[in-house]
Amino acid sequence: DRFSSPSDNKLFISERFNPLGYIKWTSKPASRMFCSWTLLPPRLKSVEGELCLITGAGGALGRLFALEFAKEGAQLVLWDCDTAANEHTARLARDLGVKVHAYTVDLSKRENIYEAADRVRAEVGDVTMVVNNAGVVAGRRLLDCPDELLERTLLVNCHALFWMTKAFLPPMKARNHGHIVTIASALGLFTTSCVEDYCASKFGAVGFHESLALELQAENQGGIKTTLVCPYIVNSGMFAGCEISLIPPLEPLYTVQESMKAILGEQQMVCIPRLIYIPFLARLQENIFLICSHFCEQTAAMGGKPGNISLHGRRQVHAAVHQQDRDQSDLNSA
Ligand SMILES: NC(=O)c1ccc[n+]([C@@H]2O[C@H](COP(=O)([O-])OP(=O)(O)OC[C@H]3O[C@@H](n4cnc5c(N)ncnc54)[C@H](O)[C@@H]3O)[C@@H](O)[C@H]2O)c1
Repeated sequence: DRFSSPSDNKLFISERFNPLGYIKWTSKPASRMFCSWTLLPPRLKSVEGELCLITGAGGALGRLFALEFAKEGAQLVLWDCDTAANEHTARLARDLGVKVHAYTVDLSKRENIYEAADRVRAEVGDVTMVVNNAGVVAGRRLLDCPDELLERTLLVNCHALFWMTKAFLPPMKARNHGHIVTIASALGLFTTSCVEDYCASKFGAVGFHESLALELQAENQGGIKTTLVCPYIVNSGMFAGCEISLIPPLEPLYTVQESMKAILGEQQMVCIPRLIYIPFLARLQENIFLICSHFCEQTAAMGGKPGNISLHGRRQVHAAVHQQDRDQSDLNSA
């Protein structure tokens, strides 16, 4: 096992019991609409030679991600607004024998992201993997919290995902090769009190990620993988002082190792611990509808009239993208 779990993990029993198996969308065109469920762990891909950008690399999880990717042989680009912490991570990763480029970037500023992305392209090359990990929480009751702190959470945890994707997706699309990882949270799937800013930003991150994954699928960009990571509270200090009664907080190393298994196994999504899949499953009804409507769309496409099928919500957008592509290719061939 490339990512062994700490033996003192209190969640051992719930983590060994895996009723869901591993969720993975297959990349074969004929079966793309089906979710393939297997009970065997997926094969882990190699990231040797990939250029992997990690945001928030000076933080607890970001540093561990950097070290795990370094162990796997990836070249690293590390971003954080905390220069000293980021440089520290860079030194640790370099000691593992990989090339590391550290940049001080404030992800709450769109122009800062675009400028740094241009520098990375010019100085290092095209990024092939992005781990959107940086995150903040205001950590105060809504009415006591300065507006700027609430705003910052949305800018860093959610808005930055748009600018990061706009900056780094185009070269991935040109080669139909890449991987975009979103470190969201269990609080992107369900809520609790006093974290309105954080929940809003992480629900936004989950929605952004899901829509992006569907867009890439609609555009036949199967070579660009996406992974959504939803951990429960981690013992990293971000939620220090919170009273947690349900299950104990996760260890950072365990969280990152479970995330790495999902990323390298090209899983669409991972909840850590698996207990967190329960709120996700509550949304399964909608996912079944998505799969069925995709099937209807495929059937209709065989008859050449996909627009005649009545689709709703997200499928309608998905079908519209297909239709635009078809119109464009008709124009090109005319
Ligand atoms: N810690 C938890 O309990 C927990 C649980 C679920 C999900 N997550 C998510 O995991 C990710 C990592 O969390 P962590 O526990 O390592 O937190 P952390 O506070 O240790 O690290 C976050 C890093 O992001 C950086 N950062 C903050 N604002 C930034 C900005 N404007 N520009 C650039 N960098 C910025 C910080 O400097 C820090 O190095 C976050 O997205 C967090 O929301 C954390």
